[in-house]
Amino acid sequence: MTKNYITSPIYYVNDVPHIGHAYTTIVCDMLKKYQQIRGQEVFLLTGTDEHGQKIENSAKAHNQTPQAYADSISARFRTLWEEFDIDFDYFVRTTDSAHCHSAQVAFRNMLQKGDIYKGVYEGWYCISCESHFTKHQVVDQKCPDCGKPTTTIKEESYFFALSKYQDALLQWYDRCPDVIAPKHKRNEVIRFVESGLVDLSITRTGFSWGVPLPEGVESTDKSAPKHILYVWLDALVSYISAIGYENALRMDLWENTTHIVGKDILRFHAVYWPAFLMSLGLPLPRKIYAHGWWTRDGVKMSKSIGNVVDPKEVAKHYGIEAFRYFLLREVPFGQDGDFSQKALIERINSDLSNDIGNLLNRLIGMAQKYFNLTLFSTQIEHFYPQEVAKIAPILERFESAMSDMQPHIALEELWGLLRLGNSVISTYEPWKMMKQAKSEQTQALLMLVGNILIKVALCLYPIMPKTARAIASALGYSIDAPSFARYVSQNTFISSATLTPVPPLFPRIESPLMPDPSAPLDSQSSANTESRSESNPKSDSQPSVCASHASSQANAPKPKDSQSTPSLVGIEEFAKLDLRVGVVLECQRVPKSEKLLRFLIDLGEPTPRQILSGIAKYYDPSELVGKQVCVVANLKPVKLMGLVSAGMILSAHDDEGLSLLSVPKKAGSKIS
Ligand code: ME8
Ligand code: MG
Repeated sequence: MTKNYITSPIYYVNDVPHIGHAYTTIVCDMLKKYQQIRGQEVFLLTGTDEHGQKIENSAKAHNQTPQAYADSISARFRTLWEEFDIDFDYFVRTTDSAHCHSAQVAFRNMLQKGDIYKGVYEGWYCISCESHFTKHQVVDQKCPDCGKPTTTIKEESYFFALSKYQDALLQWYDRCPDVIAPKHKRNEVIRFVESGLVDLSITRTGFSWGVPLPEGVESTDKSAPKHILYVWLDALVSYISAIGYENALRMDLWENTTHIVGKDILRFHAVYWPAFLMSLGLPLPRKIYAHGWWTRDGVKMSKSIGNVVDPKEVAKHYGIEAFRYFLLREVPFGQDGDFSQKALIERINSDLSNDIGNLLNRLIGMAQKYFNLTLFSTQIEHFYPQEVAKIAPILERFESAMSDMQPHIALEELWGLLRLGNSVISTYEPWKMMKQAKSEQTQALLMLVGNILIKVALCLYPIMPKTARAIASALGYSIDAPSFARYVSQNTFISSATLTPVPPLFPRIESPLMPDPSAPLDSQSSANTESRSESNPKSDSQPSVCASHASSQANAPKPKDSQSTPSLVGIEEFAKLDLRVGVVLECQRVPKSEKLLRFLIDLGEPTPRQILSGIAKYYDPSELVGKQVCVVANLKPVKLMGLVSAGMILSAHDDEGLSLLSVPKKAGSKIS
């Protein structure tokens, strides 16, 4: 039987878990449960990353020893996963002695392979990302990844001969085009490697909180600086130390590994790690999935901004099941998503309370009233052939979306099945059929709904395990791999069911249940701006310049005669505009908006800008990535659909449609 090995990142213990961490770990758990219900054996690893300068500094700031500090935060992660029903098989800590030993063995093996040499590292370092940068990569001394200030270091270091693996890595990406997903992230990785790899400093000497080098490697000279392993080498090795790298305990699992990470750490997983693995002579991962960021009102969550969402709080108020559903349904995997209570409540009320909860209760209610809770029919297809025919294609699309790691699409499909269940009831009106003494037809109809619910429950198990079990048991069935094979993969129908009444699964929620941590940035007011402009047909007929800006300006009163000559502006006034070339890094539709696209644009600044533009009707997001656009960079930020838009993208339009202005210059070039 195939054995699958899934890993989450091991999280830094410098800070307590937030919903970003919860999301990644829930995605891992979903994948595990999906593979298990399809009859596969799965091992899921999670854990904590406890060494390095960042942790040492955090511990100091909390007046604790690094170990005591790591112990307390690591325990919080572990407890949270237990509370969230994350079915992990092992929780690795990089301070575990077995792990430290594995990391030393890995270092020694790479050394013996001839891939490690001693030198001096001189360059920039971001403590927050624990990442090295060259002069060309830092922007105004700031980290190109997180925008925080970097430090310069010059110290003796051991280097890993990363450059030696450049061609082998490129060949691997080429040979296995599906390993890194989503595609646009893979392309970024390839561009990074193609631009040239420099050897990687893999030891540090300036501080001591890390794994020492294996004995016998360093000189015995007491005055020589003591090296410790670079925290990313230490951390990545946890994926193999956890399954017994040095004693080969469960290394059979390594053949079929899936890493799930956030996009921030894809480079470490898709470049450095495979190079380390090649050096160690181990197989490379089968899959590396990189997901997007969870933001709050369009801003990346961070403690310093004070907009962090505590997953425990959300679960406490809304329940873990609804929270899992929301996270997996709300954003396309790989794209960024915005958390708001409003969106969560909408999902709970419409998708969970209405579509699932009501259907189950309607079925139970009618089964009780007409058939004393016991249903039997072998004539479902005979009476409802058209409806039955719709089920198999939906299930196929569900399975294919899950296999492509697109849970939001899988769930959309599944909701098609629930809509079918709800619509057969309103179309055939069982209460009327009963009055006409069509008991057989009614019973077949209820069994059709029962079948739909069983299939939904089995498919829903990876996403909402408890809900799935509750639905199945209300119908007298259970959630297991043989049932999944029978009722989903083979789409067999059950012909009987003994039902048990259950209380409503998801009571409706009328108002937010938890205090809003970012009240000033509350998304609700801005969401109104957009919905107003969406419902205002006039906002489509904007003036012909800057038509692509979808800010609240769209609602501003227009000049009475839009054909009249525009008033003249002086050069000083014009000079106030900061017009620049921007390169589109990411582009996606804004959920629930017909007009808006959300861009991440490189303007040559330390961090990319988020800009919203109302051009969804004219462009497909995928065709815009990499495009050079013209941006008004000093426009006052506005909020649209709860997202901050910091700038405007210029376009021109005429009768034939709209085109973005584009200039073949590098990001940040000034337009004047
Ligand atoms: O990078 N949205 O640990 P880390 C979505 N120790 N996901 C988020 C997120 C957000 N706003 N914030 C964090 C490290 N994550 C290293 C990993 S692995 C060998 C070592 C998730 O604590 C996401 O999965 O900074 C991201 O990649 C990870 O947490 C980073 O966690
Ligand atoms: Mg991080």
